[in-house]
Amino acid sequence: MNCRKDFSILNIDDTVYLDSAATSLTPDCVLEKIGDYYQNYNANIHRGIHNWAETATAAYEGVRSIIANFILTPGVEDSEIVFTSGTTHGINIVANSFCADWDSNDQIIISEAEHHANIVPWQQLRDRSGVQLQVVSLNEKGYLEFDQLVDFLKRRCNRSLVAMSILPNATGVMQDWQKIGQLAKMYQANVLLDGAQSVPRIQTDVSDCDFLVFSGHKTYGPTGTGVLYAKKGLLDQSPPYMGGGDMIKTVSFDQTTFNEMPWRYEAGTPNIAGIIGLGRAIEWIKEQGLDNITAHETSISDYAQEALKSVERVSVFFPQTAKLGLVVFSVDSAQSSDVATLLNTQQIAVRSGFLCAEPILRNRVGQGVLRASFGCYTTTEEIDKLVAALHKVLSIL
Ligand SMILES: Cc1ncc(COP(=O)(O)O)c(C=O)c1O
Repeated sequence: MNCRKDFSILNIDDTVYLDSAATSLTPDCVLEKIGDYYQNYNANIHRGIHNWAETATAAYEGVRSIIANFILTPGVEDSEIVFTSGTTHGINIVANSFCADWDSNDQIIISEAEHHANIVPWQQLRDRSGVQLQVVSLNEKGYLEFDQLVDFLKRRCNRSLVAMSILPNATGVMQDWQKIGQLAKMYQANVLLDGAQSVPRIQTDVSDCDFLVFSGHKTYGPTGTGVLYAKKGLLDQSPPYMGGGDMIKTVSFDQTTFNEMPWRYEAGTPNIAGIIGLGRAIEWIKEQGLDNITAHETSISDYAQEALKSVERVSVFFPQTAKLGLVVFSVDSAQSSDVATLLNTQQIAVRSGFLCAEPILRNRVGQGVLRASFGCYTTTEEIDKLVAALHKVLSIL
């Protein structure tokens, strides 16, 4: 791919940025779009009738169709796109609004590989309401144990929600998300897909799910932005997660009537500049071609996995399985934080620790790990630099 020129940050020093699963870099056109809002029409939305307010409202609302057209299945309506501050926020809306009246007759089914964002909100719900929380294991290749999922789905529960990541950030192993959705539907369960890592890397659609969540800052967009897709009708009657301005129709001291979708879940002044920037990021991805990004990340991931496997004392997580976007590994007899610190002295930026997925890493690896993760701008030369730097680190540790 030829997109490095779009990122000024790549020219400021010799940093080899291999932490895009934590947050992707942001192309200059997105920064310009944000600057344009602050410099030319910096006003609040949905409130004023002056020109700047109208321009800001149109720009912000226009992003819903950009998202609906790009990420989602044809026919998706703007009212199904709720803007959030990120994946975590989206999952919390579903847990606290859609599942607000769930109890011990209902169940949430997650997988062993989930990010804390897709564990903790369900635990909080369980502790509050008694809802059952089930965990499906992965097999030895890192794929979901579908038999276990079906066993849970067959249990006699009132309501079930399957909440799973399409591309877990601690494994890099793409799950068969269409099958997850189709199985859930066979048993009348609802489905939430966590697309935080998949949406920037593969064409993700909502044909087989009820909810899809993702983060703007992992999708070449600004921090503090995200999307919750919620299928029409599912969140229209639920109690809103947060109360405040903009999510209401009428307010008196006795009672409030809530707004329609999607504003019902967008209380208060949102990240206006950020959402406008997110729209530009999605357009930029379109300009690059998501298929090209998928192909590039697939080949970089293969290259990195093979290169890391060849390094003595390095163990790659699920080594027999192809990865997308990231490779997780550990180094024998070395703390991951020590390795990451020494890599940093050579200007190699990787992630270390439990990757916000402590359960799977504690159970399967028993300690913190390292993660190299990629974007459309990552090159094989950068992977070679990682490997060379790793050899130096191993000669010290
Ligand atoms: C798979 C997955 N889900 C959820 C999240 C949480 O995303 P955010 O912190 O943007 O809300 C992450 C972040 O790394 C992730 O990788």
